Amino acid sequence: MKLTLLNTPITDITADLTVIFFTEETFENSEHKEILSKTGFKPTQDSFTILHESGLVVCGVENYGSTALRSAAATVVKKVKGFNYTSLKLQQYYLKNVAALVEGFVMGAYSFEMYKSEKSESTLEEVIFSSDDFNNESADFTAIQKSFDDALITATATNFTRELVNMTPQDMTPEVMAEVAETLATTNGLECDVLDEKALEFENMNAMIAVGRASIHKPKLIHLTYKPDNAIKTVSLVGKGLTYDSGGLSLKPAASMVTMKMDKAGACAVLGMMKAVSELKLPVEVHGFIGAAENMVDGSAYKPDDVLTARNGKTIEVRNTDAEGRLVLADVLAYAQDTVTSDFIFDYATLTGACMVALGPYTTGMMGHSNHLKHKILKATAHSGELVGSLPFNDHLKKLIKSEIADVCNIASKPYGGAITAAMFLDNFITDEMKQKWMHFDIAGPAYTESSWDVYGHGGTGAGVRMTVKFLESLSEDKK
Ligand code: BES
Ligand code: ZN
Ligand code: ZN
Repeated sequence: MKLTLLNTPITDITADLTVIFFTEETFENSEHKEILSKTGFKPTQDSFTILHESGLVVCGVENYGSTALRSAAATVVKKVKGFNYTSLKLQQYYLKNVAALVEGFVMGAYSFEMYKSEKSESTLEEVIFSSDDFNNESADFTAIQKSFDDALITATATNFTRELVNMTPQDMTPEVMAEVAETLATTNGLECDVLDEKALEFENMNAMIAVGRASIHKPKLIHLTYKPDNAIKTVSLVGKGLTYDSGGLSLKPAASMVTMKMDKAGACAVLGMMKAVSELKLPVEVHGFIGAAENMVDGSAYKPDDVLTARNGKTIEVRNTDAEGRLVLADVLAYAQDTVTSDFIFDYATLTGACMVALGPYTTGMMGHSNHLKHKILKATAHSGELVGSLPFNDHLKKLIKSEIADVCNIASKPYGGAITAAMFLDNFITDEMKQKWMHFDIAGPAYTESSWDVYGHGGTGAGVRMTVKFLESLSEDKK
């Protein structure tokens, strides 16, 4: 499906269907009110009606804000895909919402078909955006064009992440993930460095090696670099890439193991971010670091009671092999800081079920030391289409990860505040210099869904990609 933007009045554009979004107020004053009322249409959020005879598609929105329009655009495309039309056209709903509409159409149209013998084929080929505003507000076409193009890149990169997350653990192994990174590097002009098990040993990444040891798919560390000439800042992005998390010897119960192919969502998000920033040509040097490993069970498996020495020399008492993501991140965070001097270091991980308990399944948990940075991130990501909530550190929780025999323990001694204690564990691997520049994002809730919400259907959501692109874009605005 192609999205096009034309600097043309909507009446001059030919398409099978015209899309209109109605609020209660605009519906009240609409010329179509009478006929639409007969179909039972009410302009509530995501209500949908199609008038085949007049070639009209209508969808209700609570207001003309980005959240409502994004969701409605996704509703429209999901429904229209079920008919035999080839094209849609629509107007603008304020310039600031172009991006949300593009995201709604692109992300709403996504479905995961890789393993279906019969692909659900849609006839819908094109969505045409007119530069006309529904309210007859005049807007600068170049500005609309820029928002449109950028949103298309970001939404497509988000779908790229979703596709990778949805792939099975047998198909998306650490090795395949490294190949995906190498291909992306070739197509998008990135540098790519892959460390195999030998190199990981050489780099003293013993925590990560321990996690991956019982798998036939050996761990890989992937380092992608996007280096523009005009970089104003350098940012490191670190992703948890557990291509499968069985829990290891602290085996997950059968029901909790299902969906654990999504434990690579942080890594896949970093790949999507690298794709987006390179296509957007952002003036920021971006390094993507991925710790790809599979947490499995065999005679060589790491054990509860093991003590591991991480890359930075800290010793870790393992009391639960299912708290493996933090062990991989410990080493990858240390490696990232040793390799690149950056202005910010962010990590993305489906790290804890506790984060979902704390914030619900739709919100990413943000944890770190700097309130200033948290505010900066919240401000930049407010209209990204992603939800982010901050969880605060405190010294009482920090005591819960003390170990009697090592420097730190990989699980807390008490059951509450698990998202925070996991982040405080990671803090052991952040240098003093980087403390205020580090932020941890627990995407365990929003990264994967088994029921539809917002623009998403079943599967990976690409959590992390859009919010991070927004943050990185905001760095160039800082300078102006
Ligand atoms: N990958 C899981 C976290 C997770 C759970 C992500 C559910 C998405 C949905 C992580 O490795 C894990 O197993 N964490 C444990 C930590 C515990 C052992 C301290 C958890 O959350 O139960
Ligand atoms: Zn686990
Ligand atoms: Zn995990």
